[in-house]
Amino acid sequence: MLKDKKILLGITGGIAAYKAVELASRLTSAGAAVKTIMTAHACEFIRPLTLKSITHQPVITAYFDQNADIEHISLADWADILVVAPATANIIGKTAGGIADDLLSTTLLAVKAPVLFVPSMNVHMYDNPLVKRNIEILSSLGYQFLEPTTGSLACGYQGKGRYPENQEIIFNLQTLLHYKKDLRDKKVLITAGATRENIDPMRFITNNSSGLMGLSLARAAYFRGAEVSLITAHTSLLIPYYLKNVTANSAEDMYHAVTDIADHFDLIFMTAAVSDYTPAQPSAQKIKKGQDMDLKLKRTRDILENLGNNKPTRQTLVGFAAESENIVANAREKLTRKKLDFIVANDISVSGKNDTTVNVLSSNNQKQMNGDKFLVAHQILDFILYG
Ligand code: CTP
Repeated sequence: MLKDKKILLGITGGIAAYKAVELASRLTSAGAAVKTIMTAHACEFIRPLTLKSITHQPVITAYFDQNADIEHISLADWADILVVAPATANIIGKTAGGIADDLLSTTLLAVKAPVLFVPSMNVHMYDNPLVKRNIEILSSLGYQFLEPTTGSLACGYQGKGRYPENQEIIFNLQTLLHYKKDLRDKKVLITAGATRENIDPMRFITNNSSGLMGLSLARAAYFRGAEVSLITAHTSLLIPYYLKNVTANSAEDMYHAVTDIADHFDLIFMTAAVSDYTPAQPSAQKIKKGQDMDLKLKRTRDILENLGNNKPTRQTLVGFAAESENIVANAREKLTRKKLDFIVANDISVSGKNDTTVNVLSSNNQKQMNGDKFLVAHQILDFILYG
């Protein structure tokens, strides 16, 4: 998704500047051409030569370079996207005020391509009403922001202001480069992960769903402008920090978590691998071993079928099916029986950890997709929105 894309990286003077080196490296490895503009303060934290060696592209630090063209214009015209990472309160404030007093701020005014700011600063600075106002002004004008994470800050404080994982910046850039904000104002509910049905306090029945498909859909929908709510059963993956998440352990917990709020959503993805059976009589105490034992199971309630039977007309309902044979036929039967708008049938015999092969079906259309789960997530959204 980044191959041959022209990415202009603006680095400003914050302690997180060193993390932008890894970002430049990963973008370059993914096949993007990365040109860098460093502010004078950024050069106090890291050396231009580091970026030059990694990107094999120009790194520009001075406003007036006598050997160059009118650089702020040529760089602005060259870029498919401009990402400022880390973005200090200063560069955000200057851009919001229309100030152009160095090469980066001047380029920010000249660029027509999308701009992504990755703010990183002390928690009190990030909370400052002036910074908040500047972010609001720029957001209302179409500038993009990836919010910082919460945790220990270099200044010794705890709070919101940390530079996020570079992978989250990359997901955001990939989306901005290829997709519009076509889910703006849409409320999207996504379930992910594998439920656990307790046998006793130590043991449970589960399945090997990783949760990655659901999280990839959640990321893709969020970066396309949706208001995303996640309900996760068990997953060992990190939940994207910018998403609202509640957890639901068992099929019954998920039944309540989903059905209590389902009416409020425009689009629902039941991506979670919900157990179809649960122990009929889970033990309150740990079961001691003895002779062979039979474990009696009973059916769980089908959340998706319940949603299909009670669906508000404006809502789009998407189910998932893990299949190993007769993939399309089985999926089409579930689509009808559960009254779904779409079903995503995953061929478990060929799907891997990060890649997947799916068939997406509606009542009158169908498409096969395969590749990286984040890319497939975007393709599923495209199919739902545009057919
Ligand atoms: N699902 C659900 N509630 C359940 C079980 C499943 O909402 N108790 C949802 C899943 O989230 C998924 C879809 O139903 O979206 C899967 O349908 P299901 O008929 O259970 O398919 P499989 O699990 O693939 O089961 P099988 O093929 O054995 O019928």
